[in-house]
Amino acid sequence: MLSVQTAFYYGGDYNPEQWDESVWAEDMRLMKKAGVNYVSVNIFSWASLQPDEETYDFGTLDKIMNMLAANAIRADLATATAAPPAWLARKYPQSLPVSIDGTRLLPGSRQHYCPNSTDYQRLAAALAEQLAFRYRNHPALTMWHVNNEYGCHVSECYCETCKAKFQVWLKKKYGAIAKLNKSWSTDFWSQRYYAWEEINLPGKMPAQHNPNQQVDYKRFMNDSILDLFKMERDIIKNYTPRIPVMTNLMGLHKPINGFMWAKKMDLVTWDAYPDPFQHVPYEYFMAHDLTRSLKKQPFLLMEQAPGAVNWREQNAVKTPGQMRLWSYEAVAHGADGIMFFQWRASQGGAEKFHSGMVPHSNDEDSRSFREVAALGQELKKCRELVGTTFKAEVAIVFDWENWWALEQSSKPSNLVRYASELGTYYRTLRELNISADFVPFEEDLTPYRVVLAPASYQVPQSFTEKVKAYVRHGGIFLTNFFSGIVDLSDRVYLGGYPGAYRELLGIYVEEFAPMKKGQVHQIATPWGDSSIRIWEEYIQLRGAGALATFKNGYLTGMPAVTSHAYGKGQAYYVGTHPDTVYLKHLLIGIMERTQVFPPLSVPEDVEVTVRESHNIKYYFILNHSDTEKMFAIDPIFVDLLTGREESRLIKLAPRDVKILRAEKEKISYEKTD
Ligand code: GAL
Repeated sequence: MLSVQTAFYYGGDYNPEQWDESVWAEDMRLMKKAGVNYVSVNIFSWASLQPDEETYDFGTLDKIMNMLAANAIRADLATATAAPPAWLARKYPQSLPVSIDGTRLLPGSRQHYCPNSTDYQRLAAALAEQLAFRYRNHPALTMWHVNNEYGCHVSECYCETCKAKFQVWLKKKYGAIAKLNKSWSTDFWSQRYYAWEEINLPGKMPAQHNPNQQVDYKRFMNDSILDLFKMERDIIKNYTPRIPVMTNLMGLHKPINGFMWAKKMDLVTWDAYPDPFQHVPYEYFMAHDLTRSLKKQPFLLMEQAPGAVNWREQNAVKTPGQMRLWSYEAVAHGADGIMFFQWRASQGGAEKFHSGMVPHSNDEDSRSFREVAALGQELKKCRELVGTTFKAEVAIVFDWENWWALEQSSKPSNLVRYASELGTYYRTLRELNISADFVPFEEDLTPYRVVLAPASYQVPQSFTEKVKAYVRHGGIFLTNFFSGIVDLSDRVYLGGYPGAYRELLGIYVEEFAPMKKGQVHQIATPWGDSSIRIWEEYIQLRGAGALATFKNGYLTGMPAVTSHAYGKGQAYYVGTHPDTVYLKHLLIGIMERTQVFPPLSVPEDVEVTVRESHNIKYYFILNHSDTEKMFAIDPIFVDLLTGREESRLIKLAPRDVKILRAEKEKISYEKTD
């Protein structure tokens, strides 16, 4: 049995090894003041833990771990394998990764290892074992943090080791070379292979790459990196089977297949760095929902910046209230812990101008520290939220392999981007205060009233069958242009687009008509004309009805958006990229039809989500605007953060947050009253 989280976690990456020990006591004092109960340690310490291949020195880490235990601060103990020491690179130069242009990347930064290097693997495994053995019974040890942000800087390697491993991987996948030839469509451009050894990595080539070779390479790289995680995890589990093991993911991070990784981890965590110049950073909100969906469990926000980062061109500071609001945004979407990079801003090194919970001034009266400390104290009241679930009635299909296939070159338009297509629908739902889970193709769809699958270009036949059964039994399905086009070998479903969904949608797309970058056209809709971008196409109705029609050029008057009754359900198709005004109308209609409503009625720019335990519902209400908002509620709620009973009229200050708690019994009583 895994040990269970009993407190709401608050803290950050803690790197005391960068500081003189005289600073540590001050750290402990300030951590208490800030309500810190959890820190990530040892993330980048390999070089100091191991001065050479034969010698380990855990003296400093022992002191750090003991100090944390003495101060009742839990440790998320990292295995320190994300930045190998310089001696390792010198002794084993083949352990360094090679970029697509053949450059061997140098040490002196971080993440300079080839995922398939046996020297890196051997030494990382040895270090993980030393740590697991040494700290297996340490009272501060609460969680294992394997490596750090796998694939953040190096998600591909083009060295000879990787090439040989790729050939082995392909052999295992296809068994016979004829099968690979078929799957890769190698009779196009005379690419047929007769031996596995002829196959290269998709490095620099004279013209376009073979698309499925590229997707297989991405699958292979994801597997190679995941094997690193599993290697360390298995070693650690031998010593500490009850301590949760994870690595910090990065949300909408293309190279790392989150659903696949989540199955191998005890919990999921991620690092979120929205740009404070952005008023409402929806793609980060979407990544909270995606991260929670990976295991359908609460997650930890493992890193965020207290103020500014230092790696954008211009680095905005989080203005008063913004850090608190965005922290609660994570909690509202399922976070059971709020952490920062990093505790104390570094004095030197590449990230010295990245904000820390403690600024360079060490000024505990600074605005930033006051906000950090206030939030830490306030979050103590959120203990009862730990482990509560997030319920959504809408699912958005998310698939990493589809993302990889969709964004290869040689497509009708390179303006079709996965995250942005999904983001358009996600944002519209969010603005309507309708929550969504993200689901992979394999997921059971029946718990959801509505399933959206935008940009589902590459779909397995099994999904087509599942979604047809789902709609036949009354489900609502929506997809959009350039979806249902190819199978898992990136081969087109023949007989007319969108092959995988044609029958379900009751349409036939005869030809695509992508638009020029920046071009804006119109569609005629029941709510007036709306702007469209990126894509038009020639749609013939084969049982479906048109909900909107194109208004420009040869497509004028032709269907742009369609709806098809299929069994007891309905299948919608959006053959373009419409503006959110239209999408809002469309989605409101769809949601009303199937009785999906926002949890509370609130003014514009105010967000509502719900988390729940078996008998209590928590309504998170976040004011994303710079003006006060007022709205009415039933008088059954208690404000979790103030402990006060709420009256019927809620006044929410700019950027303020409320967590309203009510017993489920009372909610149903009020509704039937
Ligand atoms: C993360 C990383 C941290 C730190 C942070 C700065 O990607 O895990 O170590 O570099 O970014 O924003």
